[in-house]
Amino acid sequence: MATTLAGKTVLVVGGTSGIGYGVAEAVVAQGGHVIVASSTQSKVDSAVQRLQKIGAKGVKVSGATVNAREEQSIKALAESVGEVDHLVWTCGDLEMIGIQFPNIDAAAAKGAFEVRFWGPIYAAKYAKIKADGSIVLTTGNAASKPPKAWSVPAGVCGSVESLARGLAVELAPIRVNAVAPGSVLTEMWDTLLPADIKDTVLKGVAEQSLAKRVGTPQDMAEAYVFLMKCGFITGNTIHVDGGALLV
Ligand SMILES: NC(=O)c1ccc[n+]([C@@H]2O[C@H](COP(=O)([O-])OP(=O)(O)OC[C@H]3O[C@@H](n4cnc5c(N)ncnc54)[C@H](OP(=O)(O)O)[C@@H]3O)[C@@H](O)[C@H]2O)c1
Repeated sequence: MATTLAGKTVLVVGGTSGIGYGVAEAVVAQGGHVIVASSTQSKVDSAVQRLQKIGAKGVKVSGATVNAREEQSIKALAESVGEVDHLVWTCGDLEMIGIQFPNIDAAAAKGAFEVRFWGPIYAAKYAKIKADGSIVLTTGNAASKPPKAWSVPAGVCGSVESLARGLAVELAPIRVNAVAPGSVLTEMWDTLLPADIKDTVLKGVAEQSLAKRVGTPQDMAEAYVFLMKCGFITGNTIHVDGGALLV
């Protein structure tokens, strides 16, 4: 019989926007309970309201604020949430963008690891995850195919892939995996690019894949849901990128 997320509780850190919100939607649509967390109260409130609208009767949706740059804040989140079946970490800031080799400010480069690498470590340390549950982290294609000048982002993404393998060994039988998204249309691009060039840049990005389009949060959610449900996969990274690594 197919496994389902119905009745499971999933904490999505970064679940108020983009890929994380897509994962939260998929969980709720399957009858799972979800807690979305991020740093901005208004984004948490908005995500909870939208998710409540699509959740069937009995599905629990809640939200919490957390500063993923701070160990104590992550600890407080884990304690307030209590036991969960799955922890999904899609939380990411833009600290690593713009740190271009060889013009590296060491403090800034180290800061790029805070939310994406250290955050998941603290979450794994403090979260109470059921023995048959899992953690799904988020990395990026830069680990496998770094563009010119992106040595630091490549290092950040590569560290997350290695972390997934390390934590899989550390936390077994809890499974730990990662998703490496290609380019995905999310709110992140609004912060990254001025509105007047966004469409043109994304068209160019789409050409750099076999799918000839950018991904959607729903494309990504399929992979996160699979990694949560499949009890026989751990220490792995799934690339969901429209074949961008082959172009
Ligand atoms: N979109 C893409 O094309 C793409 C490609 C490859 C990899 N990725 C990676 O996938 C992850 C998700 O990306 P996305 O496109 O979904 O981004 P997004 O829409 O910007 O979502 C990022 C989420 O992280 C939260 N967040 C950021 N800093 C935080 C902090 N210090 N504390 C708590 N929450 C924080 C944000 O909420 P608040 O603003 O409320 O804090 C938001 O919920 C990121 O790591 C990104 O680098 C994305």
